[in-house]
Amino acid sequence: MKPDISDSKSQVLFGSLSEIGFEKILIERFPQSRFVILIDENVAVHWSEFFVTNFDFLHRAEIIEIPAGEENKTLEICNSVWEALSEYEINRNDVILNIGGGMITDLGGFVASTFKRGLHFVNIPTSLLAQVDASVGGKTGIDLGPFKNQVGLFAEPDFVFIDSGMLSTLPHEQILSGFAEMLKHGLIADADYWKALRNLNLKNTEELLPFIRRSVELKKSIVEQDYSEKGIRKTLNFGHTIGHALEGYFLQKQNPMLHGHAVGLGIIAEAYLSLNTKLITQSEFDEIKSTLLPLYGTSLPEKPDESVLLKLISNDKKNSADAINFSLLKSIGNSVYDQRVSTDLILESFGEIF
Ligand SMILES: NC(=O)c1ccc[n+]([C@@H]2O[C@H](COP(=O)([O-])OP(=O)(O)OC[C@H]3O[C@@H](n4cnc5c(N)ncnc54)[C@H](O)[C@@H]3O)[C@@H](O)[C@H]2O)c1
Repeated sequence: MKPDISDSKSQVLFGSLSEIGFEKILIERFPQSRFVILIDENVAVHWSEFFVTNFDFLHRAEIIEIPAGEENKTLEICNSVWEALSEYEINRNDVILNIGGGMITDLGGFVASTFKRGLHFVNIPTSLLAQVDASVGGKTGIDLGPFKNQVGLFAEPDFVFIDSGMLSTLPHEQILSGFAEMLKHGLIADADYWKALRNLNLKNTEELLPFIRRSVELKKSIVEQDYSEKGIRKTLNFGHTIGHALEGYFLQKQNPMLHGHAVGLGIIAEAYLSLNTKLITQSEFDEIKSTLLPLYGTSLPEKPDESVLLKLISNDKKNSADAINFSLLKSIGNSVYDQRVSTDLILESFGEIF
């Protein structure tokens, strides 16, 4: 397997950190810099010591540990991290290592690129979701109340190191959460990959690396065609218009559901929209639903209020009162964006998931 996927903005490297030369690469690229580790409390339990003891250049790194969970992807937490960076006298030559899931890579990328008008940052994603999705593509940001990713910017890490060995400590429900994004990649862009994923044994995280790599390739190739999301990049939002609304709804109720589980249900509902706007066939819809429902069908904390959910959905994108823009499937492996869907049909699609 090739070790990396590069472009002018950043380099994504795959494999065990020691084998792919994590330390050497960073020392060569940043010979004069200080390194700060940003990590959440859960990931710290398993991995802080590993980094500080195994890599000489991190022996004296500052470690900023923040509380875990989406409910902490907030401006208040950013503020505490900016204050810590200031206290440690971190400057623009220095580097933040974001070690964690998508919450850490989103928030850490945002904090790094706004502090002193931009520090270097490196992502070491530790959840499957962050490895296949959140840590690549340049989107960073934080939530505002129930609204996901309302404040943020596009900023690229210098490197992303993807080591599937780090998934060994990740709870299975979190593996399932990342798997929803992988299924989405297959559905929107690669029918063979979708087929292969349907036969994958998720219990064996060792075997995931080639699949993670394929997801990153697919995502990067879409992002590179349309970095600022004016066109084809919108297809990556398949499953997310309804998924984000579900996630925001339960975040607001202080009963959060996992991002990927919300997206898994969003995929089913938005596949239903694709079916009923005459884009996909009944048998394609059945195949999608029968794959995702057993994985994510029981993940809703409770039945959501449909009108509140609809309001959250229309906030997600520019929409008019009676129709909302979606990215949908044209077939398994092909997608389309900017599809107007009536609010009546959206309400009908909720029937597929709750
Ligand atoms: N920027 C993007 O393009 C993009 C894309 C998709 C999702 N996201 C964002 O990513 C976030 C979701 O990502 P996530 O599911 O990784 O969330 P997360 O960072 O909250 O991680 C999920 C949980 O797993 C724990 N964890 C992570 N790695 C672990 C490990 N190796 N061992 C043990 N525990 C571990 C975390 O502490 C946390 O409790 C959301 O905020 C979402 O908006 C961003």
